[in-house]
Amino acid sequence: MPDDLLAAARAAKGFMPDAEGAFLFERGVEAGRSGPLLEVGSYCGKSAVYLGAAARLTGTTVFTVDHHRGSEENQAGWEHHDPTLVDPDLGLMDTLPVFRRTIADAGLEDEVVAVVGRSVTVARHWRTPLALLFIDGGHGEEPAHTDYESWVPWVDRGGVLLIHDVFPDPRDGGRPPYEIYLRALEDGFDEVGVCGSMRALRRVDGQPGTPVSARTSG
Ligand SMILES: C[S@@+](CC[C@H](N)C(=O)[O-])C[C@H]1O[C@@H](n2cnc3c(N)ncnc32)[C@H](O)[C@@H]1O
Repeated sequence: MPDDLLAAARAAKGFMPDAEGAFLFERGVEAGRSGPLLEVGSYCGKSAVYLGAAARLTGTTVFTVDHHRGSEENQAGWEHHDPTLVDPDLGLMDTLPVFRRTIADAGLEDEVVAVVGRSVTVARHWRTPLALLFIDGGHGEEPAHTDYESWVPWVDRGGVLLIHDVFPDPRDGGRPPYEIYLRALEDGFDEVGVCGSMRALRRVDGQPGTPVSARTSG
């Protein structure tokens, strides 16, 4: 990864350790020549810089979806709340200005496209096969499973699904990302990489836009 983009990613606000960021970048480079990359959960743009660096190298685009109002765990009183990200007039989280600044400072505005809205709403109208899908949106049961059901069908055959914060041991973190990782395995995805809490799985069957299910489908 180019030094300037690595420095921008490391400087950005977010929750991604350096090694997982490097892993994300590498998977993006592998996938990027086959089609676009899409992230669910932009937050302040840290992971989008890793993916954007891969998009620049491979000539593709990253779409990154977020309503920018924060997940449950980002709200006041929760573990990952950052009061500097609250719009004082609205009294609501607003990570969009920081996200835009991160991407502008990294010089990645041509490669990274912010899609602002609820994940399920955007997915309902999405029709493009994805070379890489990175799920890092809401970590509660309902949002994680909804993201899985909404977006995973759009992973192209041969494309990669990345899931963040997969913790097999419940003492290490919440269950829903682990549950959707298990769903992907049950649905016939092959595990192709692990780094920290990040899992990479490849779609080996079916057609994009059709539900993912057992290996015999498609
Ligand atoms: C863990 S943060 C993403 C971190 C980011 N990928 C990074 O590594 O820098 C999760 C993000 O998902 C967003 N989010 C949660 N539920 C969502 C939903 N239903 N639709 C759109 N965005 C959502 C939140 O606003 C939050 O910014």
